[in-house]
Amino acid sequence: MAEHTHFLEVRNLSKNYDGGLVPALHDISFTLKSGRIYALMGSSGCGKSTLLNLIGTLDKPDSGEICYEGKTIDTFGNAGEFRKRYLGFVFQFHYLIPVLNLLENVETALLTNPSLSASQRREKARKLLESMGLKSKIESRANKVSGGERQRAAIARALANDPRLVLADEPTGNVDSGTATSILQKMRAYVEKNDATMLIATHDPQVAAIADTHIYMKDGHITEISDNGDEKRREKC
Ligand SMILES: Nc1ncnc2c1ncn2[C@@H]1O[C@H](COP(=O)(O)OP(=O)(O)OP(=O)(O)O)[C@@H](O)[C@H]1O
Ligand SMILES: [Mg+2]
Repeated sequence: MAEHTHFLEVRNLSKNYDGGLVPALHDISFTLKSGRIYALMGSSGCGKSTLLNLIGTLDKPDSGEICYEGKTIDTFGNAGEFRKRYLGFVFQFHYLIPVLNLLENVETALLTNPSLSASQRREKARKLLESMGLKSKIESRANKVSGGERQRAAIARALANDPRLVLADEPTGNVDSGTATSILQKMRAYVEKNDATMLIATHDPQVAAIADTHIYMKDGHITEISDNGDEKRREKC
C-alpha cells in the first residue's frame, strides 16, 4: 500500500465566540493522514464541534490556518467548492430534510455531481442506504423514522459524493451498541476503500476502539495525540 500522505494540516488555530467572551479553541496544531480514522475526544464543551466546524469551513477561525493537501482553503476559490469536492459532514444533530424520504435525502447530496444522471443518482443513493441497513426504510420520510435510522441515513448522505475527508460529530450518539458496531464497520470499510481521512468527535468508547489515532482535547487545547493499536498495524504491514 502507498505511504499515507499528510492530507490535512491545522496550524495555530484559535477561535472565540461572542466577540471573544467565550474562548473555544487555543492555538491548535496537528496533521491528519489519509487512510486513517481519528477519534477526537474530550469532555462536553472542550471544543470538538467547534474544531470540526472550522475544518469543515462552516465557520472561520479567529487566527491560524487549515491546509488541505498542502493548499489553504483560499486556493479553492470558495468554501462551497472545497466542500463539494472534498468533504462529507455528519452533524452532531443530523440535518436531514424532514419532509423528504431517506432516498431523496441522499439523492439531494448527489445533485452537485454533474457526472451522474438522475437514475444513477437514485441507484447510488439506494445502494448507500442499503449498505447502512436501511433497505426497508428507503421510502420513509425522515421525520417518520427513528433517531438511529436518521443517523445512518445522514452518514449515507455524507458519503454519497465519495469525499476524501469525512468529519463526523457523534455519529453513534443516538444508536445502540449493535448499530454503532455496524456503522463503524461501514465507516472503516469506506476509509480503506477510498484512502479517505475520517475525523470523528465522540464520547463513545466503541469509536475510540476502532480509531487509528486518538486526539484528546481539554478546554480548547489538544492535550495528547496517541496511536491506537500500533501492534495491529505492524502485523498488517
Ligand atoms: N455558537 C456558539 N456561540 C457561543 N458559544 C459557543 C457556540 N458554540 C459553542 N460554544 C461554546 O464553545 C465551547 C466549545 O463548544 P463545542 O460545541 O465545540 O464543544 P464540544 O466539545 O463539541 O461539546 P459536546 O461534547 O457537548 O458536543 C463551549 O464553551 C460552548 O459553550
Ligand atoms: Mg459537540
